[in-house]
Amino acid sequence: GRQHVLLIWLLLYSSMVEALEPVGTTIAIGAVAVTGVLVRSMSCYFNECCQPEWISFNITKLERNLDNKLFGQHIASSIILNAVSGFMRNRNPKKPLVLSLHGWTGTGKNFVSQLIAESIYKKGMKSRFVHLFTSTLHFQHKHRIDTYEAQLQQWVRGNVTDCELSMFIFDEMDKMHPGLIDSIKPYLDYYDNLDGVSYGKSIFIFLSNEGGDNIAKTALEFWQAGKSREEIELDDLENTLSLSVYNNKNGGFFRTSLIDKNLVDFFIPFLPLEYEHVVQCAMAEMEARNLRPNRDVADRVAKEMIYTPKLDRLYSSTGCKTVQNKLNFYI
Ligand SMILES: Nc1ncnc2c1ncn2[C@@H]1O[C@H](COP(=O)(O)OP(=O)(O)OP(=O)(O)O)[C@@H](O)[C@H]1O
Ligand SMILES: *[C@@H]1O[C@H](CO)[C@@H](O)[C@H](O)[C@H]1NC(C)=O
Ligand SMILES: *[C@@H]1O[C@H](CO)[C@@H](O)[C@H](O)[C@H]1NC(C)=O
Ligand SMILES: [Mg+2]
Repeated sequence: GRQHVLLIWLLLYSSMVEALEPVGTTIAIGAVAVTGVLVRSMSCYFNECCQPEWISFNITKLERNLDNKLFGQHIASSIILNAVSGFMRNRNPKKPLVLSLHGWTGTGKNFVSQLIAESIYKKGMKSRFVHLFTSTLHFQHKHRIDTYEAQLQQWVRGNVTDCELSMFIFDEMDKMHPGLIDSIKPYLDYYDNLDGVSYGKSIFIFLSNEGGDNIAKTALEFWQAGKSREEIELDDLENTLSLSVYNNKNGGFFRTSLIDKNLVDFFIPFLPLEYEHVVQCAMAEMEARNLRPNRDVADRVAKEMIYTPKLDRLYSSTGCKTVQNKLNFYI
């Protein structure tokens, strides 16, 4: 009996001394601290959060992707690289970056938005800080415009409050109700903050087909004058672009104060794509599917496209849009 008690007492005592010795204590305290830090960063480790681990701009990635993956858009490519990298370099931007992308269908507007998102957010378009609004989906009914205005304001405000570096893409601007976009105008303007929220680090991208015909017309004129496509410069397009967009009664930019007040930083033209670009799209798509790119197949896909104007058959009227589906027939 007695001896047993003594033995147990001795054992307990010795383990207590061990636990309290300086090295052990330090380790114990250290372990507690490390656990605390781990728990805190764990949620950012596994879940996306508004921190540099998940959001940081990689200019090399954007440049490489624009060079290698985007075909036939020398103007858009260089403006976007300069605009985005300039904006991301600025630690204290006075207003959000606002880009407006214009051009025919299938020329790469959504595609470029995706490349931009991928160069900033680790999760690219899947990031919870990237928001894609499609006019025909989110703002469909004309009679609900008042609700949409309130909702849109609330979404943008809420999301920027969550994370300053949010990205908003408005697709199909030409089908948006004129006036709706004005509801977010205050957010795009030069303010340090509005009601305690500052919008200066966010990016807004508008996509539309508006102005596409004008862009194509200019491109055609260059071709007819015997000049190369690469000679077309932004200056040749920018003014007519913003004007035609502003005056289009049926588009989301109609007489909008965004343009009045110069809140759109860049109007970016997307040129209509030629036969050779469609071939490039087809080759790229085969590579993306881990197939060996086959020029014959690419040619067959490209030949199926409809080219305008009727006489010269220069520009694919749907750009590269149907390449993926057409490819399915041949492989
Ligand atoms: N210039 C391009 N370079 C490389 N791929 C392109 C280009 N344009 C289009 N594509 C390919 O075609 C697909 C469709 O293009 P995208 O969705 O970007 O067109 P869009 O300009 O947004 O057209 P829409 O006005 O109809 O929305 C893209 O996913 C991409 O694979
Ligand atoms: C940036 O992108 C390049 C090209 O995709 C990649 O090699 C590089 O590791 C990236 N840098 C960082 C810091 O992620
Ligand atoms: C952020 O935007 C999404 C739409 O993309 C919306 O559903 C969500 O409610 C917004 N978040 C906040 C906090 O407002
Ligand atoms: Mg699109």
